[in-house]
Amino acid sequence: MERFLFVLGSNWQLSIAELDNYLRYSKNKGKIIDYSANIAIVEFDKLHEEPYFINELMEIQFTLGGCQKIAKILDFIDINTIEAAFPFNIHKYKNLEQNRKKIVMVIDNSLTGKNKIFPKIYESMFFAVSIYPNLYDEEYYSKILVKHFLPFLNKEIMELLKQKGAVKVLYFKYPEKNIKEGNLNPIFPHIVIKYELLTQNRAEIIFGFTDEGAYLARTFMVDDPNFKKKIDEERPFKEFKSSISPKLSLMMLNFLNLFNSRENVKILDPFVGNGTILMFALLHDFQIYGSDKEEKKVKNTLRNLNWMVDVLEEESPMFLTKQILKIDIKNLSTMFKENFFDGICTEPELGPFFLKRPYYIQAKELVDTKLEPLYNDFFKESYKVLKDEGRICLVAPIINTVDGNDIQLNLEKIVKNYKFELVPILDSNRLIKKLNPKLQFPNTPIKNLIDAKKGQIIKRKVYIFEKRAKK
Ligand SMILES: C[S@@+](CC[C@H](N)C(=O)[O-])C[C@H]1O[C@@H](n2cnc3c(N)ncnc32)[C@H](O)[C@@H]1O
Repeated sequence: MERFLFVLGSNWQLSIAELDNYLRYSKNKGKIIDYSANIAIVEFDKLHEEPYFINELMEIQFTLGGCQKIAKILDFIDINTIEAAFPFNIHKYKNLEQNRKKIVMVIDNSLTGKNKIFPKIYESMFFAVSIYPNLYDEEYYSKILVKHFLPFLNKEIMELLKQKGAVKVLYFKYPEKNIKEGNLNPIFPHIVIKYELLTQNRAEIIFGFTDEGAYLARTFMVDDPNFKKKIDEERPFKEFKSSISPKLSLMMLNFLNLFNSRENVKILDPFVGNGTILMFALLHDFQIYGSDKEEKKVKNTLRNLNWMVDVLEEESPMFLTKQILKIDIKNLSTMFKENFFDGICTEPELGPFFLKRPYYIQAKELVDTKLEPLYNDFFKESYKVLKDEGRICLVAPIINTVDGNDIQLNLEKIVKNYKFELVPILDSNRLIKKLNPKLQFPNTPIKNLIDAKKGQIIKRKVYIFEKRAKK
């Protein structure tokens, strides 16, 4: 069975939740068999048997918001071999040499030939080694893997390719300063594209670590971050300080579990703002509907959507103006038919953009008097317009106050008034247990996950709810 290595997005927990959900409910069924804070190892039930599995991988890469790269695994080197070959302190030189030889043999077996890193030897070849550690803050990464393992790999791979007949072999050189400081990022997806590392005589070779060992893999797909960035940054209307990210928008759309025939699936964002979620939903073929209580926001969303359609050089869908409407959430069901939507994906009001942490009392008042009634109206109205078993994926705020406490909405209590059920965002029983506490998930199903940048005053909490049918 072939295994694939997925390089996770910066929020690795959300990325794992999204990937596991995809592997459970999309047509490409599979399982995460190992993971770290940077990678997930995936075994598909059938995908690798498909003659066009590369096209499928391309689609998976395009679909997932929390996946930077997909690589095919060729072999695995257990952690004992690596630690014996590259120890913190050298005790036995002979032992070290033997284990290094073992590593070179594994690489040699994976390097050239059918279904290997390079299908054949070319006169001129280029490769880039990327090491993904178990966790970036581990000393073993900064002191050993970056400073000793990486140069060893570059030298050995270059020599092996020359022995096999390549005349000119070059490899990607990381800045010397970063190597010295042990502070190194593996190459970014746009560099993979720039250096054409998906072509046959060039490759990105990944050594992806978990606490079990290193998976040796060859990159097949990368995210195109420039495209997402262009849509996010160049659209006519944007609010950087408060906007939801393209990646989170995509992940939330995927949590709706609507993976098939998206062109026939109707989704709604009833708090469109400048339309980020709908832009990415349109890009992913959904039939999009949106609303906002502010006329200006409705116009901004329409302008942004039309701009994106232009960028994609597609015909502007005439019906857009009929699908993005000015509606206060209280009146949602008067404007849309009952049981009309397959899914709702939204970021309701999160509160004002605080420049300083608010006082507890200020934040509490905001939650009690403004946000709670708004979220109540949202669930009440959404229940009417959503199909039975339809899902809602939404973010709710966590407000960090001056005294260091967090204030948040009790969504579980709010949905009790309506027939919605909270769907855990991740069932950790589907993952292998990790010894390292930083990589552990709680044993109970995880009800929500947080998306936040360091120091952010209002953080986003991602939730999934499902509509139960009336009995
Ligand atoms: C956090 S913003 C959404 C931002 C959006 N995700 C984006 O990327 O631009 C929340 C939006 O909810 C709208 N809103 C607030 N209260 C509302 C209500 N009662 N009914 C409908 N829309 C409302 C605001 O006008 C605002 O545009």
